[in-house]
Amino acid sequence: MNSDEMVRLCREHTMYTWGAGDAMDVVPVERAEGVYFWTPDGKRFIDFNSQLMSVNIGHSHPKVIAKMKALLDGLIFVHPGTATESRALLGQRLAQICPGDINSFFFTLGGAEANENAVRAARLFTGRQKILSRYRSYHGGTHLTMQLTGDPRRWANEPGAPGVVRVMDPWPLTYSWGDDEEAITRQHLIYLEEVIQYEGPHTIAAMIIETVVGTNGILPPPQGWLKGLRALLDKYGILLICDEVMCGFGRTGRWFAFEHGDIVPDIVTMAKGLTSSYLPLGAVGLRQPIADHFRKNVFWGGLTYNSHPLLMGHGLGRPRRDGGGGHRRARRTDGACDARRDAGPQGSPPHGEDLPRDWTVRHGRSPEGQQRHADGAVQRQPPGHGRVRQTDQGAWAVHGHPVWQLPCEPTAHDHSGGAAGGV
Ligand SMILES: Cc1ncc(COP(=O)(O)O)c(C=O)c1O
Repeated sequence: MNSDEMVRLCREHTMYTWGAGDAMDVVPVERAEGVYFWTPDGKRFIDFNSQLMSVNIGHSHPKVIAKMKALLDGLIFVHPGTATESRALLGQRLAQICPGDINSFFFTLGGAEANENAVRAARLFTGRQKILSRYRSYHGGTHLTMQLTGDPRRWANEPGAPGVVRVMDPWPLTYSWGDDEEAITRQHLIYLEEVIQYEGPHTIAAMIIETVVGTNGILPPPQGWLKGLRALLDKYGILLICDEVMCGFGRTGRWFAFEHGDIVPDIVTMAKGLTSSYLPLGAVGLRQPIADHFRKNVFWGGLTYNSHPLLMGHGLGRPRRDGGGGHRRARRTDGACDARRDAGPQGSPPHGEDLPRDWTVRHGRSPEGQQRHADGAVQRQPPGHGRVRQTDQGAWAVHGHPVWQLPCEPTAHDHSGGAAGGV
């Protein structure tokens, strides 16, 4: 099929996300390898976005593809109530990768479902209903996760699911909590404690955070904030959910961004980099007391494709904490991509929690596309969010996101190291 026909039929018979179909700048894609993808006409693009900030190991890694083909000769589908070898081993592998006592996992098909089930687990475990989330956040496109989301993608989806209380971030857009990170952390946590008091601590099940805010600005937390937050939430028996759907699996140079803050959340959610998007898989990781609770009490949630054997088998192709190539790759790619964390404008962090430079290039000194409207509302994305930016030179990035994330393989043909070294 040629490019024109591909685009025409896709426009005519399929819907696109986060935009009006006719306004989308649709790129026809035939194949992808390493950091590149090609149109049917043979035009090559360098993928500055890892597609959806998710193809962490680069496209079509030969080891991963070989493993995926082999999976088709095995068990394809069984009831989620069964036990399979791939499920057993993936759970065990993730328990090895995750710090602390995060030892038990609920599998989903993506990030939003992972966050939905994280909130469900928090509510059932604590017997409380409210969830705190932050304005500068994205947590998914489902009914509940749209309300956890603070950014303007929420507006058209309101009122949505109840029980979410949104709070200001340590890095607000137009003002600052203090002159340095220590002051910002201190003042913000004082503010947060006051919100908790007003809401009633006994009504709040959990707070969900993107450990490093993704599409809302690439904002690592200020120094000491994660530790302070952990202590504050512990004081009131409120669970901490770290959404590591985008920032997890090596994007910050560690498997999980919360490791930089030297904390362990009660619940961690993951997707994207978990499979590098080769297959759709998400997971909710639970600390031991919460996991133990659901050994004795019903987990009121389920999915037809929970723990799908193909996805479990593919997930097993992920790196090991002990000697997979992820950390090496983080260092190597850091230089190759010339990733840098710009000192931002007022209220935007220069470095935050001592994060090493990662694969994320934050372009521009202010969150891209952030605008203040005449009515005073802050809108991060102009209409048409989701359009892609492509150049004649063959560079490609999603328009409207303040983030570029190259696949972690610096060249198309260098598959020698990388995460899949653990395959
Ligand atoms: C931080 C974060 N959480 C959740 C999601 C939702 O994941 P999914 O699109 O797989 O449902 C995303 C997707 O971009 C994300 O960046």
